[in-house]
Amino acid sequence: MIKIKVNLDRYAPASYDICIGSGILDRVGLLIGNGTPATRYIIVSDTTVASLHGEKLKVLLGGMGYDVHLVTFPPGERSKTLGTALAVISSLLELGADRASMLIALGGGVTGDLVAFIASVYMRSVPYVHIPTTLMAQVDSSIGGKTGIDLPEGKNLLGTFYQPRGIFIDLDLLSTLPDEEFRNGLAEVLKYGIIEDLRLFDLLEGSAGEVMARNRAILETIVTSSCTIKKGIVEIDERDTGVRRVLNFGHTVGHAIEAESGYTISHGNAVAAGMVAAVRISEKGGHLLPQDRERIEGLIRTYGLLDRIPASISTDSLMARMTKDKKKKGDAIHFVLLRKPGIPFIHASVKQRIIRDTLEEMHA
Ligand SMILES: NC(=O)c1ccc[n+]([C@@H]2O[C@H](COP(=O)([O-])OP(=O)(O)OC[C@H]3O[C@@H](n4cnc5c(N)ncnc54)[C@H](O)[C@@H]3O)[C@@H](O)[C@H]2O)c1
Repeated sequence: MIKIKVNLDRYAPASYDICIGSGILDRVGLLIGNGTPATRYIIVSDTTVASLHGEKLKVLLGGMGYDVHLVTFPPGERSKTLGTALAVISSLLELGADRASMLIALGGGVTGDLVAFIASVYMRSVPYVHIPTTLMAQVDSSIGGKTGIDLPEGKNLLGTFYQPRGIFIDLDLLSTLPDEEFRNGLAEVLKYGIIEDLRLFDLLEGSAGEVMARNRAILETIVTSSCTIKKGIVEIDERDTGVRRVLNFGHTVGHAIEAESGYTISHGNAVAAGMVAAVRISEKGGHLLPQDRERIEGLIRTYGLLDRIPASISTDSLMARMTKDKKKKGDAIHFVLLRKPGIPFIHASVKQRIIRDTLEEMHA
């Protein structure tokens, strides 16, 4: 088992470990018990993950003498709402959960964001741990303490910063993940390779077959590398006011494509197209060499991720979305651009003409 420590104790005694390996679910009882044991454990999971892995975890923890319960909600982004949060909270109250209880988020990013939000406000906060079950959650959403709830007006408009007591990444759980969800997470892994880790970039380029086959050793390497990068950035900028924004590489255009498609284009595909846009804008602005841009686009294509913008999504609608994005400052659209693979930078005043030309050409 690999352990990565997330050091946040400059602000609060909030440091915790990320444990990565195979068979972690079987050992979770011991790992959780190593910290301050709770009097009651409530696993919260969507119904898909609950039936695949939640019941097993409940039996395992129960067998170790823990007082353990399982609370479920319907799967998918449409559950990341206040309504679901209130339904889970009602169940917690019925079960008698109090501040000596611990929540266990077992699932993908939706479960993580929702459970972390509940943990941060239920009875003025209770501890929680995350067992991420999607690649997206294992490499990205579980780390960093951002919680989130969607509102009808937009995604993640309610949220808090609240750190888990531990993250337990069992690579075996990925074996039941559908291909489309696996690819979703891969887009974030490619992002880390492009903006930060050239060894990861080379591995992704040279071993695509093994990555797609979910080779166990390769999975361990890409998940560990990704967690190390994300935790390193979070340690420097826990509250997302500076360097953490480089993690938005590909996300400015990506979020706009995702929203304009009515969320029919997956987050991973939208971010992939957004990364293509970002490297093209970088090249047009004279920051990135054409051969580096081509190499990055090649990587995205190797993994079968989206590299164009569908004709049904107009440049005007994307421009309008981006100027409304909550990550913009004033009128300027914020872009994370690239000087070279591994060297991203934030550009607050990319010329609108360059953005428009890029989006137009990506419709071709
Ligand atoms: N907090 C953050 O920093 C952060 C960062 C990135 C994304 N997010 C959030 O993460 C969410 C997306 O996360 P996601 O992609 O994991 O989606 P998700 O949690 O909805 O999971 C995707 C689907 O996979 C299923 N699933 C999960 N694990 C499975 C497994 N092991 N086997 C079979 N099926 C499984 C789920 O039931 C669901 O249907 C979004 O809401 C996004 O806003 C948060």
